[in-house]
Amino acid sequence: MSNIDLSVKIGKMTLKNPVLLASGTVGYGNEISEFTDLSKIGAIVTKSVSLNPRKGNPPQRVVETASGMLNAIGLANVGVETFAKEKIPFLEKVKSDVICNIAASSIEEYVECVNILKDFAIIKGFEINVSCPNVKEGGLIFGNDISAVGRITEKVRAITDKTVILKLSPNNANITDFAEVARKEGADAVTATNTLIGTAFNIWTRRPKIKNITGGLSGPAIKPVALAKVLEISRKVDIPIIASGGIMNWEDAIEFMIAGASAFQLGTVNFINPNAGVEIIDGLKQYCKKVGITKLSDITATYRL
Ligand SMILES: Cc1cc2nc3c(=O)[nH]c(=O)nc-3n(C[C@H](O)[C@H](O)[C@H](O)COP(=O)(O)O)c2cc1C
Repeated sequence: MSNIDLSVKIGKMTLKNPVLLASGTVGYGNEISEFTDLSKIGAIVTKSVSLNPRKGNPPQRVVETASGMLNAIGLANVGVETFAKEKIPFLEKVKSDVICNIAASSIEEYVECVNILKDFAIIKGFEINVSCPNVKEGGLIFGNDISAVGRITEKVRAITDKTVILKLSPNNANITDFAEVARKEGADAVTATNTLIGTAFNIWTRRPKIKNITGGLSGPAIKPVALAKVLEISRKVDIPIIASGGIMNWEDAIEFMIAGASAFQLGTVNFINPNAGVEIIDGLKQYCKKVGITKLSDITATYRL
């Protein structure tokens, strides 16, 4: 099966396969590296990095739901300087390509973070998080503000030739408008999507199970929603799509690719099976063999009405 080509090109970045590990579900790669071979993965997307370290929200921050989980971590992270000093050397050692996810509460802060990180060779691209549902400032506000998303894309594009990806929110009705503005301002791709806003109550205390009251729903429960968003963008906007939402196995991944995704991210599944990425790569090869194709990227957007 060595003649099967799983590589994907997104912007200037060529990845050995379309399997990405989603932001916030594998930290900076160090913990998961004990359980899987990160050098086999297409790319790791880092936990959102912000200019200054963030503690995130108070606990309880995570709750299990039927077919998924709710999280309100609130972008806890070490901050860009510590990330550069302490986390990048480890990622260089495990020889994985890295997409750095950036979160910020102002346009200037996004630009400053990218400026600090743009010359690290291991960072192949930036995923700009404008869609975190768990922070009061930045994040969701940008995710709902189309002109802010346009300006962020424009300013980040102006300072780097590396691949720029906008991670979009499913929590508004018109995701294609956001994808279009990202395309127009020079983004190389969009990630569709981040988590869906949800909540859960403890019936005995009559209080929300999450201190933040609401959290982001992820896992198999959101797959049909994410799939419909990928399909919608694929039909209306000419921009590569990286799928994210409920992908648990290679069959899910193939579905997203048929609907229009060039690559995809594994999130919640990493908590259940940290080796899922490597297993999915094998599954993708078997699929290609079964349907008689030698280049996996040929199946992207093969569904047409
Ligand atoms: C615990 C947790 C933390 C997350 N943190 C981030 C984050 O820091 N930045 C971000 O862009 N997305 C974050 N996400 C969203 C994931 O990257 C992914 O888009 C989402 O979980 C949907 O994919 P899944 O259903 O495969 O998990 C987080 C998700 C989870 C479950």
